[in-house]
Amino acid sequence: MSNTDEVPGLIGQVAAAVSDAIGRELPAQADADPVVRPSEHADFQSNAALALAKRARTKPADLAARIAAALHNATGTPITEAVASGPGFLNLTLADTAIWRQVAGRLAHARLGVGLTQSGRRTVIDYSAPNIAKEMHVGHLRTTIIGDCLARVLGFLGAEVIRQNHLGDWGTQFGMLIQYLDEHPEAHWHHDDLAAGTSTVSALDGLYRAARAVFDADSAFADRARARVVALQAGDAATVARWRGIVAESELAFREIYDRLGVLLTPEDSAGESFYNPQLAGVVDELTASGVVVESDGALVFFSAEVTGPDGDPVTLMVRKTDGGYGYDTTDLATIRYRTRDLKADRILYVVDARQALHFRLIFEAARRAGWLTDDIDVTHVAFGTVLGPDGRPFKTREGGTVKLMDLLDAAVDRAAAIVTDKNPDLDRDTVDRIAEQAGIGAVKYADLSASRTKDYAFDVEHMVSFTGNTGVYLQYAHTRICSILRKAGDTTPDLNPTLPLHPAERALALVLDAFATTLTDVAATLEPHRLCGYLFDLAKAFTDFYEACPVLAADPAERGNRLALCRLTAHTLRTGLGLLGIAAPERM
Ligand code: ARG
Repeated sequence: MSNTDEVPGLIGQVAAAVSDAIGRELPAQADADPVVRPSEHADFQSNAALALAKRARTKPADLAARIAAALHNATGTPITEAVASGPGFLNLTLADTAIWRQVAGRLAHARLGVGLTQSGRRTVIDYSAPNIAKEMHVGHLRTTIIGDCLARVLGFLGAEVIRQNHLGDWGTQFGMLIQYLDEHPEAHWHHDDLAAGTSTVSALDGLYRAARAVFDADSAFADRARARVVALQAGDAATVARWRGIVAESELAFREIYDRLGVLLTPEDSAGESFYNPQLAGVVDELTASGVVVESDGALVFFSAEVTGPDGDPVTLMVRKTDGGYGYDTTDLATIRYRTRDLKADRILYVVDARQALHFRLIFEAARRAGWLTDDIDVTHVAFGTVLGPDGRPFKTREGGTVKLMDLLDAAVDRAAAIVTDKNPDLDRDTVDRIAEQAGIGAVKYADLSASRTKDYAFDVEHMVSFTGNTGVYLQYAHTRICSILRKAGDTTPDLNPTLPLHPAERALALVLDAFATTLTDVAATLEPHRLCGYLFDLAKAFTDFYEACPVLAADPAERGNRLALCRLTAHTLRTGLGLLGIAAPERM
């Protein structure tokens, strides 16, 4: 079997069979949704008869019975039993052999039989986007982790993903900072000059604050700082060199966080605000020529036709300020022109805080009016909620400052180390550290991804590193348990025998395993990673139930082969799923 071979899922096969049966009974309704879902009463159920009966002038229960009869007469479907029940439900049971064949098919397949449903779709994902000379804070956690997960899932499904890190690396604040650094040659902020444990960005962050204070207090300094912005924009060599140095040092610090989080972003993915600087005049000219932006009190402004503010006036984007300067709005108009026109994206995702919803609504509206964004391009602001403190209140340090991302990661890893040592007191320090890093970082990522994307969630280290409940550590641990079973089994497995009867716990597990592909398709459509988390949690629970009900290593040789196949497929699915969340799946913990 080749690597691109798709193993069509059972739910799709069942839906196709029910559609055929409906078409035979009610030719006019052949295209109706067969409404097939997993069921507690059978393997699947279809509720199509309830919706269709009225149009067919018949009772739903009668229609369900007719569809059931048509299914019994059909050949080549996985369904062995179709029973009408209640007011018009249809309970569908599958042949054991059909279920075993799915297990064998997925196991033989490097990509678990998942189809390339996003094949060739050029997808730009804007994520992470921290600000130069500022510390990455807890607010950048979600965009980095969610964006990275979407990049992985869409890429796995065959999309051509283009990652874009829209670094905040341009603006008037740099004039202030550069001027201050020049006037304070004694200030330390270069990597090599700093004490261990102090990052460059935290040094720069402090210097920036100092510069801001002088700027506010000393008007002569403020004038020098403004002149410095002009020098930067005019490309003055010394000023630009300073700016480059600041950007490079900040990127080094971001890289430390990216490496630790294990995200896909590379330096080549950086296309920050400064990248768009040479394009801004052209963007503005184009928008002015097409009448999308207009002059208003000396500035160039975009007036929304769709959104009005509380006063009833249209909401605006500031496209060029009265002093001729450009800001965040202009740059984002440039991002969407570049991504549609130059990158030729089919889909564009902006993974940014929900508080910027209005900004993106207006950017998209302007881009549509400019003709950049056409109906064949799918653009989404992938909005997310806020990370709150463990007490459910805004997340602040004890001193009231913003919480640094690195400190949070350290806290999670420390807690994981304590728990791992507790569980395995004999482990050596290095092993504990390695496991704790994987568990702690995985825990932070999982807690973020498993929370519903648009809601706020509380950052609770204690809960996220727990070995029980819906946590990353629980899933990693479930994976290690299966690895240990497989190690003990050795390599002497007979092939899977699809003619053996299925135990109910084997059946439940196999059906969950078969739903991996549809789960990923669902994540690709909704852009909600928590659906994959929920799926993996269900899978781990189904495995636990199976392992309690069905001995594996001590089973009869024939059964043992089939059960080991289930173990292998579960381990592979968990590992792949965790990988798509960007979480390590160690073999031992
Ligand atoms: N740098 C911004 C911030 O930290 C986020 C930028 C998001 N991306 C964009 N294209 N506007 O809030």
